[in-house]
Amino acid sequence: MLLPTDPIRWPLEAIWQAVEQSLPGFTCEVLPTVDSTNTELMRRFKAGQLEPTLLVAEQQSAGRGRLGRQWHSQRGDSLMFSLGLPLAPIDWSGLSLAIGVSLADSLDAANAPDQCIALKWPNDMWLVTKQNHVIQERKLGGILVETATFDGQRYVVIGVGINVRAVEFAAQGSTAVQPGCLQDLQSDADVASTLLRVLAPLVQTVQAFEQFGFAPFQARFARRDVLAGRDVALSEGTNGQAHGVTESGALLVHTLAGMKEITSSEVSVRPC
Ligand code: BTN
Repeated sequence: MLLPTDPIRWPLEAIWQAVEQSLPGFTCEVLPTVDSTNTELMRRFKAGQLEPTLLVAEQQSAGRGRLGRQWHSQRGDSLMFSLGLPLAPIDWSGLSLAIGVSLADSLDAANAPDQCIALKWPNDMWLVTKQNHVIQERKLGGILVETATFDGQRYVVIGVGINVRAVEFAAQGSTAVQPGCLQDLQSDADVASTLLRVLAPLVQTVQAFEQFGFAPFQARFARRDVLAGRDVALSEGTNGQAHGVTESGALLVHTLAGMKEITSSEVSVRPC
């Protein structure tokens, strides 16, 4: 149990050594508290700071998710970081999916027969557990990708939140589901070791995406696609059946009006 005063031993030196050669000028920093690591990196970019930067927060006061949602966590419960860097892919579509593939592959090496990390288009990681023929699906983490342009330079901020430790969950009377956490998969996981596991592969993924786009990640996404073959409801009101993703990361949904390609900016999707 981590007390509020216990230091977290962040492996910044090891991360820097693993990443610096492929990302010249790379810096990494841990903040005891900040409103949001994504917001902070965007502020710095707008103030002219373009260097590739990893910003880790032990605590966030205004952590953000997609579609205006919030990301809440106590110190040590979830890994919260943002990676900001100049990036110029020909096509941005599918970036959050490629990032999800990278994170899931880094964290799910154990090949446990009854548990795996699945990806829910476009930006969620789920922990899928099978126990006594009952399948449980719980959110494990999320990805928030934001871009900005300043003086002709495009910059991306990749925000990642991963639940590492189980939290007290008092959901009596609520329909909310207890989130999943990495310790359900690996009991010795902590925020610092999780960061070390995911960061260097994430940088490689982002660089590969810049060169080749989403297509090389399509098959890896398909192996973890939790929506494939399931009935889904789109936020715009359409229902259909999910049929995987295209080479550019659009979700294919078979509806009464035929096959639709859904892009992340259009709708949110939830299993029926
Ligand atoms: C989602 O589930 O919609 C995405 C959640 C992303 C949360 C992370 S925590 C670190 C970074 N800073 C933020 O404010 N958000 C991301």
